[in-house]
Amino acid sequence: MGVVRNLRQVDADAAGVDIAFRADVHAGLAQAQKAVPARWFYDATGSALFEDITALPEYYPTRSETDLLTRHAADIAAAVGPSRAVVELGSGSSTKTPLLLDAIAPAAYVPVDISGDFLRDSARTLATRFDGLPVYPVEADFTQRVDMPREIAAMPKLGFFPGSTIGNMVARTAVDLLRNWREALGEGSLLLIGIDRIKDERVLELAYDDPAGVTAAFNLNLLERINRELNGDIPVENFTHRAVWNGVHARIEMHLVAACDLDFTIDGRDYHMAAGETIHSENSHKYGPRDANLLLRASGWTPVATWDDTDPAFALILAEATEFRSAP
Ligand code: AVI
Repeated sequence: MGVVRNLRQVDADAAGVDIAFRADVHAGLAQAQKAVPARWFYDATGSALFEDITALPEYYPTRSETDLLTRHAADIAAAVGPSRAVVELGSGSSTKTPLLLDAIAPAAYVPVDISGDFLRDSARTLATRFDGLPVYPVEADFTQRVDMPREIAAMPKLGFFPGSTIGNMVARTAVDLLRNWREALGEGSLLLIGIDRIKDERVLELAYDDPAGVTAAFNLNLLERINRELNGDIPVENFTHRAVWNGVHARIEMHLVAACDLDFTIDGRDYHMAAGETIHSENSHKYGPRDANLLLRASGWTPVATWDDTDPAFALILAEATEFRSAP
């Protein structure tokens, strides 16, 4: 069957630049604490750097999650059942997907990703590997409303949201996203979601500030991307990468730190940063078991099974879109 159709749902300007990227950068740099949403890391260079991060010895989430998917494949398959359309949110290079697809005998696969090149490549690879499986790639920002391919309308669905990407959102945005996807997938759907656990902050800080400097390059690429796509002249060499644990919010924060007083322009607009001032570029929230279950329940997803026996700790949670009940 192979790749059936590529649905594109991204608003770009005449130069091919995502309109929302430009708006987010200017709005974010106008704030007292400068900030740019983490989803803009993932141009082709950023996506490739992220793949490199997942192979680092210090970056345990990919290893832990792969280990869970491998060891618990039979249990996951029993809990999910066959013949579902698997909808993967932020599929990237879809490296963990074969582990799931091999286990559960799905009816179709719908990868959703904002990075079109990555999406097309990985959709093709999976369509070849799973001969006969219909693959419907959707090029879209999964944090926004996404229309599902009509071909899967009647199929029972499994949302697959691995990698602890939900941790990159603050709780309110995470709940909005999970509620939207509950609506898009429909009542009775299942969601298999990867969630990173709270752990020793030294382990966390090393995972986000590796000695080889790959995560630093990933963070700094955001500035390069602004220069490339938005006519910026940010002196990237005058910024450094910082990753720090914020215990109040239970999250790793990544910042781009100005090494000296700086002036630059983006799209002809002037910006100034004082030495030591930062652009907050990412949050990576970590969740204890109760927090994770509460986040899901608050979003209309009832947890039905959890696999989390890895070290460093990570959780795969299966949840169901159950009917809303305000009382017991
Ligand atoms: C994609 N996301 C889940 C990664 C994380 O761990 O928060 C992004 C990342 N940032 C730095 N390293 C990895």
